[in-house]
Amino acid sequence: MIEVRNLVKKYGDYTAIDGINFKVRKGEIFGFLGPNGAGKTTTINILAGLSLPSSGVAIIARQDVTKHPIGCKKRLGIATQDANFDHHLNIKDNLFYQGLLYGISRKELKKRVDAALRWSKLEKYSKKRFHQLSGGMQRRLVVARAMLSDPEIILLDEPTTGLDPQSRRQVWKYIKDLKEKKKTVLLTTHYIEEADILCDRISIIDHGRLIACGTPDELKRILDNDIVIDISLNPEVVSEHIEMDLNNISGVNHVTIRNNGIRIGVGNEAVIEQVLSSIIKKKNRINGINIIHPTLEDVFLHLTGREMR
Ligand SMILES: Nc1ncnc2c1ncn2[C@@H]1O[C@H](COP(=O)(O)OP(=O)(O)OP(=O)(O)O)[C@@H](O)[C@H]1O
Ligand SMILES: [Mg+2]
Repeated sequence: MIEVRNLVKKYGDYTAIDGINFKVRKGEIFGFLGPNGAGKTTTINILAGLSLPSSGVAIIARQDVTKHPIGCKKRLGIATQDANFDHHLNIKDNLFYQGLLYGISRKELKKRVDAALRWSKLEKYSKKRFHQLSGGMQRRLVVARAMLSDPEIILLDEPTTGLDPQSRRQVWKYIKDLKEKKKTVLLTTHYIEEADILCDRISIIDHGRLIACGTPDELKRILDNDIVIDISLNPEVVSEHIEMDLNNISGVNHVTIRNNGIRIGVGNEAVIEQVLSSIIKKKNRINGINIIHPTLEDVFLHLTGREMR
């Protein structure tokens, strides 16, 4: 349903998208996971015809987006990062007038606007302005708007950024609902847990390049270590060479120092004891220990040498 080949986007000398390739199949939830400035919105905007590629091809339902912009736009709905609702109109009228752009008859559109408000549980708020809604309500409305034309393909640019955990889960439910409706969804996020929970497949994007693509499990298997020891330390008593000491232990695959602790990827359980005794011997004060399976965060760390944020 979506295909991108050797896509490049330059702003002057700066390359925001550096030759990316991916395909999204029908009915799939495909995630674009990457830090700020990675190039997620740029890619979405090219697919939605809001920005032109410098080179390469972007295809929506077998049509090139630059050659058939109207045909492509008819096949997709988009929830942009910037909501762009008209502040002079209530949310119901906003949906109605934006829906008219799709050439839907007024009679049909009225039904769809009511359905969108029902779906996003905002019927009671139909006379409110966009800015009068809570963050969670706004994101739900933006997703509902993307569905007004009943498109096969939905692009969601950071659908949950800035939401509290409860509202985020609510929006996740709405996205899962889209999957049940057999929609094809491309969503961007910088929340690792979100990508892991929602997406059938994920592309990790960094500095305009796709550095890995696969199901969450496939990505986690990139790591040769199968256990992560997450240790919180008292920051006032952390020994100077802790990172080097740990790296010298055979079986330790990667060590990341964090604000209040350290994350250590190891190859097998036998190494855990050595790691802990090395830390304790140097008089570091341990506040807590978690032994966990690698997350996509560890994958990102492994591939880029940095944390997501
Ligand atoms: N119109 C523009 N002119 C110049 N540079 C731009 C423009 N739009 C985006 N960029 C740059 O391109 C890069 C990618 O931006 P983009 O908005 O695609 O990132 P993103 O992955 O969506 O980030 P975020 O998570 O912050 O939304 C950034 O370095 C950004 O500064
Ligand atoms: Mg963005």
